[in-house]
Amino acid sequence: MSTLYAISGVTGMTGNELVRQILADPDGTDHILGFDNFYASSIDTVSDCIDDPRFEFFEYDLNNDSEMDDFKNRILALKEQYQELIYINCAAVVHTEHFYHVNETFETNVVSMKKFLDQAVSVGAQKYINCSTSEVYSMNSWNEHGGVREDDFLTISDAEHSQRTSYAVGKLLTEFFMKDAVDNGLIKGCSIRFANVYSKNERFPKHIIPFIINSFKENGKVTLLENSRKNRRTFLNNYDSCSAVLALAKTVSSLDGSVYNVATDEEISIIDLAKLCAEKMGIKDPVIEFEGFRASDPERRLLSTEKIRTRTDWKPQVTLEIGLTECIANYLNGQENA
Ligand SMILES: NC(=O)c1ccc[n+]([C@@H]2O[C@H](COP(=O)([O-])OP(=O)(O)OC[C@H]3O[C@@H](n4cnc5c(N)ncnc54)[C@H](O)[C@@H]3O)[C@@H](O)[C@H]2O)c1
Repeated sequence: MSTLYAISGVTGMTGNELVRQILADPDGTDHILGFDNFYASSIDTVSDCIDDPRFEFFEYDLNNDSEMDDFKNRILALKEQYQELIYINCAAVVHTEHFYHVNETFETNVVSMKKFLDQAVSVGAQKYINCSTSEVYSMNSWNEHGGVREDDFLTISDAEHSQRTSYAVGKLLTEFFMKDAVDNGLIKGCSIRFANVYSKNERFPKHIIPFIINSFKENGKVTLLENSRKNRRTFLNNYDSCSAVLALAKTVSSLDGSVYNVATDEEISIIDLAKLCAEKMGIKDPVIEFEGFRASDPERRLLSTEKIRTRTDWKPQVTLEIGLTECIANYLNGQENA
């Protein structure tokens, strides 16, 4: 079946790898219309695909109504040539420091997510994949049985604790829009709660893995938050975040409007992560300092992925060992801006 994909935030970590995986078969007949406003990425992340005629890129802003009308018209012009139309919303205000920008977070992650969903419905798309976040689990991101499940009740920290929670609350609201659209028979779709995603091509060293590698490289030491003395996390390579999106998109029975956790089981403390990076970078006795404290940061974030593993054939492929080696090789080769 030939599919037309409409992807927002296409040069971001998840979007750019989606392009690569969709176009992986050189004889494939799928086509991608993607856009990004380069809020947190650059065209370089898709430089290996940009000349492929099956991929069309546009510098558009999800929050700009007239640009979104142009995008809609481009979709309508192509739609009839494909058997299926799938919308994937990857555009979002994501990086740690931006979580505190509540107005921007609301506009992009909530209002424009909803408009993009409305557009998908209005052009007759069959499916919509909504990227949510495991941050919705907030302070209850793990339990005594191990991973939190999609139907566990949530206890969210609030504005009294941190503005940062607005990111999680906004994403949670998008899950309701998704479910409502499916329940009303407008489209098929689901929401995905990703764990911490990383990529060897991350442009800015904001997330913890590139931050650690970059700090060791530039300063010979790393300064972590006080929370890192205890905190543990799992890390999802963007190869696996994308393969999960595509596995769900291809499994119609999974697109019931509900939510899927997507993560690995490989939990590591942030201190051990820093030590592992140092070891891989050839640094003996790394200097690790602590400064600052982030409220509303759970000690662990461990997700049960039983639901997606039961309903699709997805499972993560990239171990932290392999993923970190690739990240470090990229950074040490001076390709961090790739
Ligand atoms: N990175 C993570 O750890 C993580 C974890 C959980 C969920 N998610 C979710 O997964 C999705 C994909 O995130 P990612 O990891 O690829 O992050 P990313 O920041 O690499 O990609 C997001 C992309 O959206 C673009 N963007 C932002 N605002 C835009 C706008 N107004 N118009 C057009 N493009 C815009 C950015 O430039 C960027 O390229 C997001 O919805 C995010 O909330 C990410």
